[in-house]
Parts: sequence; structure tokens; C-alpha cells
Amino acid sequence: MRILVTGGAGFIGSNFVRRTLATRPDTRVTVLDKLTYAANPASLADLDAGRCRLVEGDVCDAALVDKLVADADLVVHFAAESHNDRSLREPAAFVRTNVEGTVAVLTACARHDVRLHHISTDEVFGDLALDDPARFTPQTPYRPSSPYSASKASADHFVRAWVRSFGLRATISNCSNNYGPRQHPEKFIPRQILRLLSGRPPRVYGTGENVRDWIHVDDHNDAVWAIIERGEPGQTYLIGADGEASNLDVVRALNRAFGRDADDFEHVTDRPGHDRRYAIDAASTRALGWTPRHMDLAAGLAGTVDWYRANEPWWRAAFDAAEDFYAATERRAAPTARVPARGAVRDVGN
Ligand SMILES: NC(=O)c1ccc[n+]([C@@H]2O[C@H](COP(=O)([O-])OP(=O)(O)OC[C@H]3O[C@@H](n4cnc5c(N)ncnc54)[C@H](O)[C@@H]3O)[C@@H](O)[C@H]2O)c1
Repeated sequence: MRILVTGGAGFIGSNFVRRTLATRPDTRVTVLDKLTYAANPASLADLDAGRCRLVEGDVCDAALVDKLVADADLVVHFAAESHNDRSLREPAAFVRTNVEGTVAVLTACARHDVRLHHISTDEVFGDLALDDPARFTPQTPYRPSSPYSASKASADHFVRAWVRSFGLRATISNCSNNYGPRQHPEKFIPRQILRLLSGRPPRVYGTGENVRDWIHVDDHNDAVWAIIERGEPGQTYLIGADGEASNLDVVRALNRAFGRDADDFEHVTDRPGHDRRYAIDAASTRALGWTPRHMDLAAGLAGTVDWYRANEPWWRAAFDAAEDFYAATERRAAPTARVPARGAVRDVGN
């Protein structure tokens, strides 16, 4: 099977490529990646060149995408601008890659009748109140909060339009927050790990009460394969591992993993529009026979710490650049105001 993986030099995409080559001997992978600041080609460098090739290019380049799709049996579309904080500063880049890039992929897949799996996020559903027992399902209406989630929501709508209008064989998955090896240092968990490895305390936005539904990246990618192999074209699947934890829970677990006082961390000003809680009901994907294997978040975090500890050349330059990025806006703050359980999200700005 010839697989085109867009965004395969990023966090989830590179783990997908590695897992695919390791578990499916009959596969060959072409990665299309623009190698933005978020990519790290080192994530693919040790792979068998006979089975994995990297094409540096833009997913918005319709002619290039068409050529690569024509040679593929399956396309898995990860490529995206993926960082919420950056989407507040540079929304146009998110519209371009996440919407226009997806349309280029859809056009080529429809033209060559190639099966597509589109990777999306639970952030398209907006957020839930901290005290709301509800979880997201495939029927939850879209209510994105940030330019990032709005661009992903738009892309999902385009995928459905291509299924309906052009008979495209496509599935969509909306997954919760991933953690694991090879995640860019600007993201919440690696950032805290790398601050700790550099002798600095972790930092949390606002009060740290915001809840994310964490899933190990390998569980996400196994779910993607379950959908590719057993999912029904035209359907949407939600992926999550019942991993709800507040940012405070995560930071405390990491402090413990480093043998530190669990409450030794800093608060910084909250980000505008910061979603309160995400929670996934993954029944649609579990019905395909998939079950997550990494159910112990503390153990998963400890394994992730080990990976970063052993791979400083992979992260050092990106971590230093990410800390510069945050230094431009981040301000220390007292953890006074609580995250509102209901109603408008507190907007404290930077
Ligand atoms: N990280 C999460 O927790 C999470 C959760 C659910 C869904 N997702 C989705 O999964 C996908 C991958 O996320 P990630 O965390 O691995 O992101 P990432 O930022 O680590 O990787 C994105 C990759 O896409 C590439 N890329 C960006 N613009 C491109 C363009 N114009 N053309 C070609 N390549 C381009 C980048 O170079 C990078 O390698 C995204 O679609 C994201 O929305 C992420």
C-alpha cells in the first residue's frame, strides 16, 4: 500500500509514519511536508529510505499535491498550522494551510478516486463548562473559539462537502489533546518537561483549572488505522482515551516525576478565549474494535519525560525559540481569579 502522509514531519504525523512502517510491512510512505518551524525532519531521519521518502513542499501547491496523490492508494492528511497561540497572532496562515491546503488535498483525492482520512481536532466543538457532565459526540454542533479551531472546523465542512458533492471516499476523526515523543516544545506538556529539564519551574496559564482530555499519540494513531481499515467512508469518528485532567493535574504529575514539590510552579496571564474543558465520547471509534492502551497518564508522562531526556539534540533549538516566543507576551500573574464554570470565558489578554 502506498500512503501519502501530509504533515508527516510534525508531531502526530511522524509518529504515525513510524508506527505504520513498524506494524505494517506491506506499506510505503511518502511524506509531504513544508518543513515549517513546527516540523523536525530528525523525526524521520532514521527510517528505511526504501520505504519512506520525504518531499518538501506545500500542501497548498495543487499541482504537487495532485502528482503525489495520483501515486497513492491512501492519503492521511495531518498537515496543519496547529498552535492556538500562534493563530491569535497570524490567523491568515491558518486559513491558508488548514482550509486552502485541505481543499487542494480534497480536489486531488476526488480527481484520482483515492481514499482519504482527514485528521481533525475536538477543538471544533468549542468548550464545555467545568461542571457540565456532557462530552463531545459526532452530533455535537461546531462552535470553534480560536482562529485555529475555526480553520479546522472549516476544513471538516469542506471534507463533508466533497463526500456529498463528489462522492469522495473520506473519513474524519476529531481527536482530543495528544502527548508523547516528538511534540514541538511550544506545546503545553513538552514545554513543561523541557523547563524542568532546564532547571526552571513549570508555567500554567491563569489558574490552571482548564481541563484537557489527554491521549497518547500512539493510541491516536492506532485509532486512525482502525478508522482507515474498518470505518465507513463519509462518517466522522471521535478519538479520546477518557484522559481528562486539568493543567494543574498535569503540572503536578510532572513535578512529581522530577521528584519536586508538586505545587512548585508559576502562573502566567491567561490566553484570550482559553477553552475551559474538552471531553470526548469515543464510542464511535471504540465500536470499530479500537481501545486505547495508555490509560495511566502519570506513566505516559513519565515515558515522555524519558524520551525528551534522551533526545536533547532533537529539541534544544526549538525549545529556546519557543521560550523566546512566549517571553514576548507572557507575564507572571497571581492565581486569583478562577476559571468560570459557566458563561463567558475570562478574557484577560496579554
Ligand atoms: N496535537 C494535538 O493534540 C492534536 C489533537 C487533535 C488533532 N490534531 C491535528 O493533528 C494534525 C497534526 O497535529 P500536530 O500536533 O502533529 O501538528 P504539528 O504542528 O506538530 O505538525 C504539523 C506539520 O504540518 C506541516 N505543515 C504545516 N503547514 C504545511 C503546509 N502548508 N504544507 C505542508 N506541510 C505543512 C508542518 O511542517 C508540520 O510538520 C493537525 O491537523 C492537528 O489539527 C492535533
